[in-house]
Amino acid sequence: MSQFPTHVRIVEVGARDGLQNQPNPVPTATKVDLIERLIDAGITHIEAGAFVSPKWVPLMADSMDVMQQIKRQPDVVYSALTPNTQGMTAALAAGANEVAVFIAATESFSQKNTNCSIEEAFARAAPVIAMAQANQIRVRGYISCVLGCPYEGLETDANKVAVLTDRLIQMGCFEVSLGDTIGTGTPHKAQALIDAITERVPVTQLAAHFHNTYGQALANLYGVLERGVAVIDSSVAGLGGCPYAKGATGNVATEDVLYMLQGMGITTGIDLEKMVATAAFISAAIEAPINSHTANAFIRRRG
Ligand code: HMG
Ligand code: MG
Repeated sequence: MSQFPTHVRIVEVGARDGLQNQPNPVPTATKVDLIERLIDAGITHIEAGAFVSPKWVPLMADSMDVMQQIKRQPDVVYSALTPNTQGMTAALAAGANEVAVFIAATESFSQKNTNCSIEEAFARAAPVIAMAQANQIRVRGYISCVLGCPYEGLETDANKVAVLTDRLIQMGCFEVSLGDTIGTGTPHKAQALIDAITERVPVTQLAAHFHNTYGQALANLYGVLERGVAVIDSSVAGLGGCPYAKGATGNVATEDVLYMLQGMGITTGIDLEKMVATAAFISAAIEAPINSHTANAFIRRRG
């Protein structure tokens, strides 16, 4: 049965997922400028950094400076990745008002991304969640490789993802973001995944985090929107990729998602023209192409 939402919350991940994998350093001032422009465009939920090992992800090493330099706006969620208590301590010092723990649906990706098993990732997440709760901060959970793994193949078991999702919710995550890390999913598989998960967890606690490597992200989003998913992670200019998923390209572009939702009469509160201008800003600043059909079409139309 179709249950399209009337409103979608966009979680803008460009400043984290989008920038974590850039070939060249990105100045702190550029990151701060990007985040402020995104918020000016109407983004209310932004992933502003990652408190992970700077040896593992050098591009996120200045997350403390970034978060401290942003001019904060009321009612905006500034979140950060926190894989362990060391990261959580830093996130609290940086003033994050939401954090995210992350696990993987496959053992190989868990090892490559976080140097630990899935079980160990849960063990690391538990005290992070406790610290967040003690500080009245919400915790999001991420699961990577929900529709395929760069090391274990394309058939991730939907029931396994459902069990992991349920466990993150039981541990205290308010929402679980489902990562198609390598963008290999297709719409019916994405819908089957939601069907398996919603046997255990309400759809209101799910978010879609789809990379667009195979050009399937919008189709997959349409599929999960039809199932009632109302939170979408996307990246301005389609920037990004995961350093531990070779060849994986960026998240679905925020501009493309906004254009599709606008056409479907689904509100987001975000100004598409300003998002396109922000895509042009960041792609010029870091000399990366705009991986958004909509942004490129708007720019071409304007000449
Ligand atoms: P480890 O090496 O197993 O950790 O790393 P450790 O506890 O043994 O510590 C080793 C060193 O790391 C020590 O430093 C620690 O201080 C340091 P040393 O003594 O060698 O100088 N360290 C830290 N430094 C800063 N912040 C921290 C921290 N923790 C330890 N929080 C760890 C384990 C998880 C930290 C490491 O594997 C890591 O940072 N991995 C990077 C993970 C990552 O950021 N991946 C990309 C983001 S996830 C993603 O993109 C997927 C997603 O978008 C969804 C999707 O698309 O699927 C979310
Ligand atoms: Mg990602």
